[in-house]
Amino acid sequence: MGLDKSYYLWCFITILMERKLIITIDGPSGAGKSTLSRLLAEKLNYTYIDSGALYRAVALKVKQSGVDPDDDASLCRLCNTLILSFQQDKGRLTVMLDGREVTDAIRAPEISLLASRVSSRKVVRDALLGVQRRLGDGGGIVVEGRDMGTVVFPAAEVKFFLDASLEARGRRRCDQYRAQGKTYALGAVTRDMEKRDSDDTQRALSPLKPADGAFIIDSTDMSIEDVVEEMLKAVERYLSPSSKLNNRGR
Ligand code: DC
Repeated sequence: MGLDKSYYLWCFITILMERKLIITIDGPSGAGKSTLSRLLAEKLNYTYIDSGALYRAVALKVKQSGVDPDDDASLCRLCNTLILSFQQDKGRLTVMLDGREVTDAIRAPEISLLASRVSSRKVVRDALLGVQRRLGDGGGIVVEGRDMGTVVFPAAEVKFFLDASLEARGRRRCDQYRAQGKTYALGAVTRDMEKRDSDDTQRALSPLKPADGAFIIDSTDMSIEDVVEEMLKAVERYLSPSSKLNNRGR
């Protein structure tokens, strides 16, 4: 009697829950990292971590407190007094900053640009490195960002680099805004995205690039379901007894 598909899936998820892997998803803005990380984490019963939300929270606090985003001493003080927490409920991530909910406020276009700007400062990256590693303590996480596989979790077991054309990413971001009841012109959204990607890719510290050994997925013409399936297959391949990577220590 052959084993049925649901039994096979159950075995796969049980192994994953026991192994508590670190799965990283890096890539430019609008490539679908958040949706896919959340879905993958849900399917594997792992915790989803959005590292970009940390940089966005710093940016929002910089704006609220009137700190000069190029003044390292003030940025350092600000990062050290940041009180941040995340809550996940049915796939929705709630972000609290200094006791107030900022889930939507950190997604505003001006905060996106400011987040990219503060993320190029060494003091900010240094302050957030420990926070991110503590969030990932013990594994069993799907974590998304720009340098998850290259710098923050270089020993992660499975790494992805998710990309898509600028046009597709701009359209997706506009759809997301529309779903939140906000309307922004496609041209302006695409221009902001192009600037941010170019800054994130060209900065000296932790630039956006695929990690060694990352699976590169171009999602331009793929559905979300297809990408999740491809990611699950990559995780399965990693876990297969014949995988050379499988017994690598973290
Ligand atoms: O993923 P996001 O769009 O929410 O990220 C906002 C900005 O934060 C992005 O432009 C670059 C920065 N960022 C980073 O430098 N490193 C990360 N790991 C995540 C985000």
